[in-house]
Amino acid sequence: MSTDITLTVNGESYPLSVDAHASLLQTVRSQVGLTGSKEGCDDSECGACMMLIDGRPVNSCSYLAVQADGAEITTVEGLAEGPELSTLQRTFLEKGGVQCGFCTPGMLVSATALLRDNPAPSDDEIRIALSGNLCRCTGYDGIVAAVAAAAEQG
Ligand code: FES
Ligand code: FES
Repeated sequence: MSTDITLTVNGESYPLSVDAHASLLQTVRSQVGLTGSKEGCDDSECGACMMLIDGRPVNSCSYLAVQADGAEITTVEGLAEGPELSTLQRTFLEKGGVQCGFCTPGMLVSATALLRDNPAPSDDEIRIALSGNLCRCTGYDGIVAAVAAAAEQG
């Protein structure tokens, strides 16, 4: 059975008809057409699907699209500042925080929420904030350095 909802993704409204059991991740990827958020485990384990829902980082694979009706959703595509990369996106590139890139969208979303709430985190605080995001390439040192550099640059 389908349900009519409206998702607001990166400031744009999308009226959609969704299956009641469809995840937010599936819906954003297949119906909204934004594929930056990745499906890794599909079980709230890896963080590759992380989105901000009303500013809060959430594993979108385990969140129903119908639950997000009317919420403000931000995906990795919404983090850039116009045509420019965000500071975090740039420091991920500069500090070697990206290897295969599969975890990167989720890392960027979680790190964005961290720096909004704590603009000057310690390395330990960065590691704790990103503990729900797994990097199969194990490039954690570069990722932490990238977040620290973004914090330094404000
Ligand atoms: S795909 Fe959602 S947590 Fe892994
Ligand atoms: S860069 Fe490959 S999974 Fe993190």
